[in-house]
Amino acid sequence: MPVPIRQVEHEPEVFPLLTRSEVDATRTSAWYETFEDLTIPSRIIDLETLGEEEAFRDWLNGDSIFLPQDSENVSSISSSSFDATGSNSDSAPVYHLPKLNTAIRTAIQAFGGSVFPKLNWTAPRDAAFIIPQTEGGPLYCKTPADVYLVLKSSDFISHGLDYARAYASGSSDLVEYAVEDQQNETEEVPVEIVLKKYIQMIPSREWRCFVRDDVLLGVSQRDTNFYDFLQDSDAKRQVIDAIRDFWEDEVRLNFTTGGGSYIFDVYLSADMTRVTLIDFNPYRNSTDPLLFTYEELLSILLAHRRRSRQSSPLPYGLAELSSDAAGLHVRLPILKIVESASDPEANRTTPAFAGNMMPLDVMALSQGRNMGEFKDAWEEALARGMDDVSSDDDE
Ligand SMILES: Nc1ncnc2c1ncn2[C@@H]1O[C@H](COP(=O)(O)OP(=O)(O)OP(=O)(O)O)[C@@H](O)[C@H]1O
Ligand SMILES: [Mg+2]
Repeated sequence: MPVPIRQVEHEPEVFPLLTRSEVDATRTSAWYETFEDLTIPSRIIDLETLGEEEAFRDWLNGDSIFLPQDSENVSSISSSSFDATGSNSDSAPVYHLPKLNTAIRTAIQAFGGSVFPKLNWTAPRDAAFIIPQTEGGPLYCKTPADVYLVLKSSDFISHGLDYARAYASGSSDLVEYAVEDQQNETEEVPVEIVLKKYIQMIPSREWRCFVRDDVLLGVSQRDTNFYDFLQDSDAKRQVIDAIRDFWEDEVRLNFTTGGGSYIFDVYLSADMTRVTLIDFNPYRNSTDPLLFTYEELLSILLAHRRRSRQSSPLPYGLAELSSDAAGLHVRLPILKIVESASDPEANRTTPAFAGNMMPLDVMALSQGRNMGEFKDAWEEALARGMDDVSSDDDE
């Protein structure tokens, strides 16, 4: 089946103008069925169908950090401030999301006891620190309360609920919409919770792949650390071959609603022969270009077009990154890896999302505690702080 691609009449800009349906094509719910055999098993919970979308929004938008009723596991309920009748000891708001609780518990059970949560397009990676990390890794959620806690603590997920951000094209400082979307600007973005089976991933095997106008332009390491084994030219060749074959055989003709410009993430097996699809992302600034810049990706596209018309090599500086060093028979994609341990990309000293973190004392308070315990500890700490303040005043 031919891929429907919008005709490009003018010189392309750094970013394509995306339509709402092209952005929606990158939602897990839009592509999951088509790629089910190639991706991580997932459950998608449509809050509207569940009948709890409004209640969920109320809870998410509420100022408090109270978790919905009965979201903690039975063994921990006694330690929270909620009693068995659903009322609590003070005037704290009470949120009821019983169907969502059940849907999350069912998914956790189906996937062997843990899930990796997302809301619409986005994982709450900036809030991973809020739940204690034990067996799994970041965002290892074992109860509905874990899922709620990371969603509530994340700034990232709110981007996917704001219409202007959710359906924007281009760069965040210059929000553009395709014409068909302008009149919808005030609409609410539907809420979907995606629960993926938790997989312990090895960061060096994660890759991000950039497709523009139906051309696989580039592939970048997703985790921008230096990995010695990736310096080997055979290893690079294997990465490129595996990803190019996967795109040509599995993605290109099946991701028909993506409009020809999109970014997808994959995970390679240890022997680099098997490829697992992790995610699709819109081709726009909000998707991190990692070791590329979007300007660079545009120049690769333009060079590719020129080469298709007349046989011209890639721009200076890019040819040597490609699989054929001579640049005469350059085959895309261009692979980018961190090539030296002294590369600034490989030497970040700040932890990821440091700007989203809470002060250390709040983190320390959350360690090893469920939400009820955390709330009690938090209130106690606040009360202690108030006492300290008033005794200071008395002095
Ligand atoms: N099922 C999973 N189990 C455990 N970890 C996962 C799982 N899926 C993804 N991850 C990890 O979380 C990271 C982010 O996941 P994902 O790409 O789905 O989030 P995202 O919000 O779409 O990110 P981005 O905004 O960069 O597109 C991945 O790079 C991977 O390391
Ligand atoms: Mg993504």
